[in-house]
Amino acid sequence: MDKKRLSKALAAAGIASRRACEELIFEGRVKVNGKVIKIPQTLVDWSLDQISVDESPVQKEESKVYYMLNKPAGYICSSARPGQKKIVLDLFAGRTERLFTIGRLDKETEGLLLVTNDGRFAHEVIHPSSNISKEYVVKTAQEITPEHLETLSQGARVDEKWIRPISVTKVRRGTFRICVKEGRKHEVRIIAERAQLKVLELRRVRIGSLILGTLPVGEYRNLTDREKELVLADFKKSSPRKKS
Ligand code: URA
Repeated sequence: MDKKRLSKALAAAGIASRRACEELIFEGRVKVNGKVIKIPQTLVDWSLDQISVDESPVQKEESKVYYMLNKPAGYICSSARPGQKKIVLDLFAGRTERLFTIGRLDKETEGLLLVTNDGRFAHEVIHPSSNISKEYVVKTAQEITPEHLETLSQGARVDEKWIRPISVTKVRRGTFRICVKEGRKHEVRIIAERAQLKVLELRRVRIGSLILGTLPVGEYRNLTDREKELVLADFKKSSPRKKS
């Protein structure tokens, strides 16, 4: 049994500060198992007790988890399942956390995808002001020429905005690397299409300074604290905004 003081349990669930939770309790707005409890020191156990504030049930706050996944092609990034389609969260079967992906990759795109239950971290990574670069390796049906590279580096219009890659380099005959800062739907495919290149494979290999490395396709692992920092490293370098 894991008993905690009611005020502390509410604060840990993100309701308010410990002091403000005590106020809620004194005001008679908190119920435990349907009964108003006005003593903040009352011991509660999340596995046994139902707690509500203003009649809304309160859930225990989950500890935060951060995974890197090597997404296989054929899985969509969505919390809801449209029809019978495979979703990325199927690869996390058996996990009890309320997970979601940080941003999206197209169904047929492979590679580095972050999955978490931490909305704040996800917001920081996705927000345009974060300035985080992402790198993709693209295999094409044609040999890449200097003209293709020139057109790719000009970018393309995506959702009414012109997207210009930070860098484009040829890797070998039909493979190039492209680095972009925006996070717009289909952006790399649209840029490749403008250069009249047919994309055979698209794989994300880096987010910020976090590299996918040798994680096998379809597998995931926990991020270390250092790796979490690497995701936001570009942001820290480029923004004076204080991080909490
Ligand atoms: N750009 C694309 O075109 N697709 C992705 O999945 C990611 C970036």
